[in-house]
This record gives sequence, structure tokens and C-alpha cells, in this order.
Amino acid sequence: MTLLAVPITRGTTDEAMADIRRAVGGGGADAVELRLDYMTGVDVAEAVAVIREVGGAKTTVIMTARDPAEGGQWRLDDAQRIAMLVKAAPTGPDYVDVELATWRRCPEARRELTPLLGDGRGRFRLILSSHDFDGRPADVEAIVAATEAEPCHVVKIVWRAESVCDNFTCFELMRGRQGRAPEKPVIAIAMGEAGLPSRVLAKKFGAFLSFASIEADAGSAPGQVTLGEMKHLYRWDAIRPTTGVYGVIGCPIMHSMSPAIHNAAMSECDVDGVYVPLRIEPGYEPFAAFVRGAMDRPWMDVRGLSVTIPHKENALRFLDEVGGEVEPLARKIGAVNTLVFDGADTVGGLNTDYAGARDALLEAMGCDRSELTGVPVAILGAGGASRALVAGLRDCGCDVTIYNRTFSRAETLAAEFGCRAEPLDRAGSLKAKIVVNTTSIGMHPNVEATPLPGEALRRDMVVFDNVYNPMETRLLREAGAIGCLTVSGVDMFVRQAVAQFESWTGRQAPREVMRRVVVDRLTRH
Ligand code: ATR
Repeated sequence: MTLLAVPITRGTTDEAMADIRRAVGGGGADAVELRLDYMTGVDVAEAVAVIREVGGAKTTVIMTARDPAEGGQWRLDDAQRIAMLVKAAPTGPDYVDVELATWRRCPEARRELTPLLGDGRGRFRLILSSHDFDGRPADVEAIVAATEAEPCHVVKIVWRAESVCDNFTCFELMRGRQGRAPEKPVIAIAMGEAGLPSRVLAKKFGAFLSFASIEADAGSAPGQVTLGEMKHLYRWDAIRPTTGVYGVIGCPIMHSMSPAIHNAAMSECDVDGVYVPLRIEPGYEPFAAFVRGAMDRPWMDVRGLSVTIPHKENALRFLDEVGGEVEPLARKIGAVNTLVFDGADTVGGLNTDYAGARDALLEAMGCDRSELTGVPVAILGAGGASRALVAGLRDCGCDVTIYNRTFSRAETLAAEFGCRAEPLDRAGSLKAKIVVNTTSIGMHPNVEATPLPGEALRRDMVVFDNVYNPMETRLLREAGAIGCLTVSGVDMFVRQAVAQFESWTGRQAPREVMRRVVVDRLTRH
């Protein structure tokens, strides 16, 4: 079983004890890594006693005194660090972690620690580790092979992810080549945002452990996920070897609400899956390298991916390149926001943005799509979001006028989809049944801005704002005040996620649960 370990990096006994209690008490960590290099003012025996008392005998205790060259806190030399470990040995750690480099260059390390190696009864097992905070070492395989050849029990390698593809290497090391379990258990972590999957999916691929921090940014390595996030957001307890992998590709991606919404839906419906953020730098090549890499590794069980800015066009190009099926309207929009994998080498693409918006409108209006034929619609904005809305509403037969600050953009889009174009400053006199804002005007923090003067609104209008932060924009507030039907960007966001979930799982999505996740997140900030 893959352990979930929390590093303790506090300098005083009181602080360290508080963290230990949180980690192995309510937090539910299986292991604690005592970072002796940080804990210079802490009574280590007491720390171990508290771990045993609060977490029970099964809680694994790991100790390390990290070399400053590999992320250690204080300028402690080899001899000092080895002395710390030897001194702490009688307190009964289950594992001691020493850097491979220290082990090799420092005869005292081998001489002093070797007699202490063993399994229980005052002896500990040895983790030999290598860390590179600057990037990926050229010879990951060679480092792992060299570590395995030493008399250690666990092989650990950590480096700063250079791209999301570094996760592939981590997964391969964890599960072993050709799916044959490695001779010794492995910890393989890609640090940083792009490496987050190596932490969350460690359990799926059978790693020895993964780390989580007590608090955000309190961790001893960049990109560490908190214990609460690991357990609740990323479904740690539900992850098993069969778990399907889902995720959202974008850049930036850490503020995406999609992991929260989809993981909550999977929990609610007992779907054997986990959904992670996948940071992929802009450009077609980085996008294609990851998706191709995932498809080349059927054992990864990638089932579905959401695609967001700046990769929606790349997703379409990729599908064309691999001969994947593309939903006709997604092709017309020129953007795919959902990839659906059916087995290892079959992938298809959808655009659930336009359907999400259309369905949110239809529900609010209590009508079906046939009733939209000929309905006059004003769309404010002519960017990417507008394009999806224009295509979706034209597909329903709406009579669309596009208003945009840069008139030429409105004209181009209008010509393509058979609509009219107007400059945005004429929107004040618009006559439409449905008004849709796709500009970013009114978005946090400029919450007092509005794309349409209040006088332009009439009470028989349906007003839809694509902006969802704040949930009630000034436009929606003013529209609601005079009795218009209003549809918020939250409705669209939830619906596009609902459509994704259903296309991946074939199950009915728990819409209310998903909506609550989004509303909770938006009202918390
Ligand atoms: P998205 O993909 O979210 O649609 P986009 O392609 O950058 O983003 O488009 C943003 C839209 O909001 C555009 O229509 C933009 O108008 P321009 O084409 O004139 O740039 C519009 N927009 C953004 N900020 C605006 C502002 N302050 N006033 C008027 N329109 C604005």
C-alpha cells in the first residue's frame, strides 16, 4: 500500500507536536517524515512518542537530515548529519533516508548506519535518495539503477519537473518496467506544478509513498499538495491500481475549479476515477507530446481530459492528426474542450461549452431548442467564448447580432456564421430577446463595470453573462432588478462540466453536487 507521508519541518517542539497531531490525528496521514535538519530545537524522542500515541503503532516514522545541497535547511556537514541520525536511531524510526551522494562519498555514513539497518527492534530500513531542485537529471535511469544496487530498501528520486511529461518517467519507475514491479519500492516525484500528477497518482502506480504538506506552501518541496487536498480533493483513499485517470489541460491551471467539480462528481457517483490538473505550456508540441505520451501508455488508464486556455485549438489539431472523431460543431467552432478516450488508441473530441450555454439558457427559459428558431439574440464580444456561443445559438436557428469593441472582429465572426455585426457602443439601443455577454467586462476585480448600460435592458429580456466571478455581475444584478430572466456563467460552467462527465462515464452527472462545489468555491473568495 502506498503511504501518504507528511514532512515535519518545524523548529520548535510545540510547533512540531502540533503538526504531528494534525497529520496523524484528524489528517489521516500514514507516515511522518521527521526532517531533523529543520527540527534542530525539537525533542525527537518526544516527537516519535507522540506519533505512536496519536497515530498508533502502524504509523510509519521516517527520519532524514537532508544535505543542504539537496534541499536541506541548515548548513550541516555530512558528519553532523550522520551524527544526528545515529543519535536519533534509539527512538525507533522505521526508515531513515540518506542521500545516495552522501552514502557514497561519506565512509562514516556507511560505517555508522550499516550496523543499524534491519527490520524493527531498534533497526531501521534505509531509503537512499537523490534530489534535483533545478531540473531533470540527464540520467534518471542510471541514478535509479545505481541506487538499487546499494544495500537500501527503498529507492527515492525527486527532481523539478521540466514538463508534464516528467510524470511519465515517475509512473514508469513506480510501477516498474513492462509492468513488472520494481525490485525495490520506489518514490519518484516530479516537483512543481507540472509534476502534481506524480504525487496524486503515486498510489495508482504502486509507489512506496507520496508526500503531502500540512498547510499550503508549508511543504518542504515545491508543488506539494496539502494533506486535506490529497484526501478530499484528490480522493486519495479511493485511488487503486484500476482507477481511471482524468484531468484538465491548461496553462495556468492551478486555479481551475474543474478538479474540485469532477472529483466531487466521481465521489458522489462512485466512479473509479481521479481528476488532476495538467499544466502544459502553450504551443501545439507540448500539448501533443503529453496526449500522445498518455495514449502510448495504455496502463495509465487515461479516460477523459478537459482542455482549456490556451489549448482548445491544439486539441482539435491533435484529433485531426491522429484521426480522432470530432463533433461537427466543435470543428466549426474550431475548439475542442473535451477529449474522450475509448481504449488506448481511440480518442474523440467535443465542445461542451456551447452546449453548456445553450442548455443553461433553455432551462432558464423553460423551452426546448426548436423554440429558439428566429429568436433575436445579441452577443456582446467576438473572442473565443463568443465564437462558441455564436455557433451554438446559430445552430439552434437564432437570429444573432454580434456587438464588439473591435468592429472588424465582429464582422469576421458574423460573416462566418451568417449573423449581423455592430460596434459595441451601439449595444445601448439593441433590440433582442436574449442578450449574452461574452466579454470579460464586469469580471472580478472590476465588478462595477458592465458591458451594457442599464437603460438598454427591458424586462422581457433573458440576460446571460458568461462571467462567473462574481456569480452575480452588475449586468445580471441590473437585469434581475427590472425583472429579466437571468442566467449566470456558473450555470454554463456547471453544464459544460456535466456534459463532460456524462460523455466520459456514461452516467448521469450529479448536477446539484457539482453546482454546490462551484458556488462554495466562488463564495469562499
Ligand atoms: P475569450 O476567449 O474569453 O472570449 P478573447 O478572445 O480575448 O477572450 O475575447 C475577449 C472579448 O472581450 C473580445 O470581444 C474583447 O473585445 P475586442 O475584440 O475589442 O478586444 C472583449 N473585451 C475585453 N475587454 C473589453 C473592454 N474593456 N471593453 C470592451 N470589450 C472588451
